[in-house]
Amino acid sequence: MKKYALDLRVVSVEQIHARYVLIKLTDDQKLPEMLPGQFVEVRVDGSPNTFLRRPISINFVDREKNELWLLIATVGDGTRQLAKLQPGDLLNCILPLGNGFCAEGGPSVPLLIGGGVGVAPLLYLGAELAKNAIAPTFLLGARTKNDLLLLDEFKKYGRVVITTEDGSEGEKGFVTNHSLLQQERFDHIFTCGPTPMMKAVARYAKQADIDCEVSLENLMACGLGACLCCVEKTVDGNLCVCKDGPVFNINQLLWQV
Ligand code: FES
Repeated sequence: MKKYALDLRVVSVEQIHARYVLIKLTDDQKLPEMLPGQFVEVRVDGSPNTFLRRPISINFVDREKNELWLLIATVGDGTRQLAKLQPGDLLNCILPLGNGFCAEGGPSVPLLIGGGVGVAPLLYLGAELAKNAIAPTFLLGARTKNDLLLLDEFKKYGRVVITTEDGSEGEKGFVTNHSLLQQERFDHIFTCGPTPMMKAVARYAKQADIDCEVSLENLMACGLGACLCCVEKTVDGNLCVCKDGPVFNINQLLWQV
């Protein structure tokens, strides 16, 4: 897919709980095609300690409003700087990057499992599945109910079930312990979140013989396959998560699950 470097205009910056912001961006031109699971490299201006662009998952693309949504955890200087953007500011983005989920033609009963800010790409994926008359189930996990993000948005596109580690909402525990997994059968799992969570999901998927794609969040710098800092060992050798991923089928990975 062709890549673009665009100065996108900030429509809004919405603080979601203490540590997360949702930034909506637009452009005078129609936004390029983007696939669920792809990401954007944003340039962080005004942060002397942030030399490299930041990779951010595509959270949602609103075609009617010509908006791109980025859900960001404000965990360092760069992301805190992004949270200070104001409507009308410009944000330089290279997009779309990476491969995206393989959502077409396959799943009929998909389960989308997300943890923490890793839920971000699953909203756009769920919306695209729903558009193709495939009803997704979202299984969303977080430490506490305050870390559950954009639930009302997810509910627009499918059923939402929840786990929290402290039991403050939904079932108490981890996503892989949710009773849903014992009660229902899914034919495809898409997952994104902390690596231990994704490995647990991959283990479950292998045992249950369910096709499973994971979106890796390896450290990235260039985002273009040049610096090799994001390499993941796979059955096809070392692959760049930024260029050959971030989405991989678990059968490609050398995870001991
Ligand atoms: Fe540079 Fe992937 S981030 S090669």
